[in-house]
Amino acid sequence: MTRVVLSNDKSFDAPPSSTILDAARAAGIVLEHSCKTGRCGTCKARVLRGATTPIGDDTSLSPAEREAGFILTCTTAAVDEVHLDIEDVSLLADFPSRTTPCRIDALDRPAPDVLRISLRFPPKAAPRYLPGQYVDIVGPNSVRRSYSVANAPSDDGKLELHIREVPGGTLSAYWFGAAKAGDLLRLEGPKGTFFLRDVAGLDLVFLATGTGIAPVKALLEGLAHRVEPGLPRSVTVLWGGRTPQDLYWQPTMDGPVALEYVPVLSRADADWTGARGHVQDVLLQRAPDLARCVVYACGSETMIENASSRLLAAGLSAKRFFSDAFVSSSV
Ligand code: FES
Repeated sequence: MTRVVLSNDKSFDAPPSSTILDAARAAGIVLEHSCKTGRCGTCKARVLRGATTPIGDDTSLSPAEREAGFILTCTTAAVDEVHLDIEDVSLLADFPSRTTPCRIDALDRPAPDVLRISLRFPPKAAPRYLPGQYVDIVGPNSVRRSYSVANAPSDDGKLELHIREVPGGTLSAYWFGAAKAGDLLRLEGPKGTFFLRDVAGLDLVFLATGTGIAPVKALLEGLAHRVEPGLPRSVTVLWGGRTPQDLYWQPTMDGPVALEYVPVLSRADADWTGARGHVQDVLLQRAPDLARCVVYACGSETMIENASSRLLAAGLSAKRFFSDAFVSSSV
């Protein structure tokens, strides 16, 4: 049995057969994570001292990150006492994951390839969660997929999900061909560590592609209830799609800080007068004060990886970049 020590001095035992992430969880400590399969990079941590060994896929680490001492806590075990340059997010221990039956309350199509559904729950069974987290939905034939919650917790307990059509996808065939109000499903959650940290006095930037806007919408709704001294200095949303119909919602925020919304299109026609290209490029073109920025990115793996490497190379602190990648499933 070895020990893992975090930068805020919390520590836990870590058996060599267990990933550091699982060992932390067994000790009641929650570390940053999302996919738990080595693919999204959310659980990256820098080793300050001690030896580790990969016990699963860690291919989302770049050679430069390996060289700099980064590991993935979800696929790495401790060999001897290990000190990591991360803090825990044990606030999430107050929001345990549970399995709950639910029914589709309503559904519509804000874009041709996007389904927006509202879920309702039996009395007192609605899940408690933090804006930004995701849930697993177990549909027909026990097929399970993950979706970010698109609303902050509400009095009626309903959850909104934005679902993108995946051609040939097993659950997509149900969502886009058969789903109807009243259908019974199972939900497991909340999950993930994508939630708003301390943003007081900072320039808060959201980067989203496609249905990655869903958790951003939930975070904006949650942010509207924050008060001084916890407010950011500014809030900017950059949302990217190929064509205007991909941007199927108008980001808004009722709150004390004005929201700047920058729609970005990668395949706009000549009439488009807004920003073109990719959200991370547009953010860097705006020359943000990266010493005062905190970035929350949600969407494709490609956008997250590219945004992370370029923003960090430009001077953003790794501790001020949070992400939730949509890791594709094989079916
Ligand atoms: Fe570890 Fe995704 S790579 S949680």
